Amino acid sequence: MSVRAPLSALFVLACLPACLAACDSTPGQTDRAFTASGEIIAMSGGAGGAASACFTCHGLDGGGDGVAAPRLAGLDVGYLQKQMEDYASGLRPDDAMTRIAKGLDQKGRRDVAAYYAGLPAPPAQASAGAAPAIYLNGDASRGIVACASCHGAEGQGSGQGGNPQIAGQPFAYTLEQIERWKSGKRRNDPRGVMAAAVKSLSDPEARAIALWLSTQPASPAPASAAATGSASVDAAARPGASRETRRPYRSDGA
Ligand code: HEC
Ligand code: HEC
Repeated sequence: MSVRAPLSALFVLACLPACLAACDSTPGQTDRAFTASGEIIAMSGGAGGAASACFTCHGLDGGGDGVAAPRLAGLDVGYLQKQMEDYASGLRPDDAMTRIAKGLDQKGRRDVAAYYAGLPAPPAQASAGAAPAIYLNGDASRGIVACASCHGAEGQGSGQGGNPQIAGQPFAYTLEQIERWKSGKRRNDPRGVMAAAVKSLSDPEARAIALWLSTQPASPAPASAAATGSASVDAAARPGASRETRRPYRSDGA
């Protein structure tokens, strides 16, 4: 200790000028610094190395791989940052993403989330027509709350960090998420809202919803997202934010 203390004091002194230079308080410059270091992580993998370079799976434009890796471009910044924290903490375990999120520090996870949130959403494609009735209305007799009540009639999300955009994601990805909410593998939903919503959904219903959503245009996050973005990033960054939503694994889905 007696040897280390002076050494770390020296280290702080030596780094101070560099740290002060980096801590620019002008908002515009800070935003640019955020997304610039986020872009480096997206292209290089940052501290996680090349195997973690986001673009190799999520595409150069953040549009996803069309199958398992979702679109990140244009999603709500608070939502993206929460997912990175939940992968790192194990609330949303995944073979690829847990390792990748753990390989970054919290600043890296924030920066890369800000970078992808700032990319334009992919252009609209042809819609597969009307939404499934179960999506729009739910089914009170089975306790299924309408997906639209939280995710919007077109899957565009509510504009708050909590209720994400689910339109324009790959069919297989969305179906997989529904399965994971059902089995309790993914359990990062506040108050268990998603586990409850999909509990009684049949497989054909889940497939119909995932297929329709995959053809819905990916819209830019609704206007309020920009306004609440940094607030929800801050909320997600608080150490307790994800822990509040933790609940024990229940194989019966309750
Ligand atoms: C080896 C391929 C691979 C790499 C590299 C990769 N991802 Fe992923 N990512 C995936 C897959 C597959 C999923 C879906 C996992 C699941 O079902 O939870 C995913 C999911 C995500 C999600 C969840 C999105 C949502 O809509 O909930 C985020 C956020 C994310 N990745 C960010 C990143 C970032 C940031 C990087 C780079 C630091 C990265 N990923 C690198 C494969 C990858
Ligand atoms: C009471 C509100 C509510 C209802 C009802 C609801 N959801 Fe969600 N959903 C959420 C929230 C909140 C999240 C994000 C949880 C998190 O932080 O990861 C979410 C996440 C999702 C995701 C994951 C998105 C991604 O990018 O990984 C999918 C897919 C989804 N919901 C589909 C549905 C479907 C299908 C229904 C109807 C059967 C439904 N939701 C009903 C609130 C709701």
